[in-house]
Amino acid sequence: MIWVPLYDTTQGCSSYVIGDEVTGRAVVVDPLETVGVDNYLLTAQEWGLAISHVLETHVHADHRSVARALAEAVGVEVGLSHRAPVSYPFRPLREGDRLELGQVALEVWETPGHTEDSLSFLVYDRLRAPEPWMVLTGDSLFVGDVGRPDLAVASAEGAEAAAAQQYQSVRRFLSLPDYVEVHPAHYGASACGGLFMSKKPHSTIGYERKFNRLLQISDVEAFVEQQLRLLKPPPEGAARIRGENLGLVVEA
Ligand SMILES: [Fe+2]
Repeated sequence: MIWVPLYDTTQGCSSYVIGDEVTGRAVVVDPLETVGVDNYLLTAQEWGLAISHVLETHVHADHRSVARALAEAVGVEVGLSHRAPVSYPFRPLREGDRLELGQVALEVWETPGHTEDSLSFLVYDRLRAPEPWMVLTGDSLFVGDVGRPDLAVASAEGAEAAAAQQYQSVRRFLSLPDYVEVHPAHYGASACGGLFMSKKPHSTIGYERKFNRLLQISDVEAFVEQQLRLLKPPPEGAARIRGENLGLVVEA
């Protein structure tokens, strides 16, 4: 497996280029405007890869995505949850879908909560093992924290319902073995998470199972209460950025 994380260290955003060294096919997940389309293309070229999939874990509200531009540059459609309310044509992804690069494959989990359209991707390297090696959790599970439930909903009731969904999604990650690596879409001081988010960009299921404070809560009501009580201010321009990432025309 070829594994190249590309980070925006200022905003605490993570994106990933994952390739199959035998077939030369690659997937890019959550490409960032601050990294730039050219850098993803260059990274793929340096590693001898051709980008066959461009995926988003969800429609982001804190930073601009270049998924559409990158997908267009390589001649594919962006892969997004079938629930994503975007205004442009895309490849709809559903629970259990598999994206095959060769021996490397990604499996789609629907993990709603942070947003209705939140996905996670289990990553397999079948040259090594039939079990998943890592999970790209988007904003569903962070290192030390979980994603906030309020950025894609219009009301306090909506945030409460989203937090309850988030509880179910994070419990699901606990069904994975301890050794599975956790690679979220954010780290550090990103405004997409809460107060406990680590500046370290990745972790394991075992470490989070034991030390993530939100994962210690085994009661949905207590989880929702904690999630809503500890909200940070929303990211600056969140509604406008989300609108741009949805492909909507936005007033200047
Ligand atoms: Fe997000």
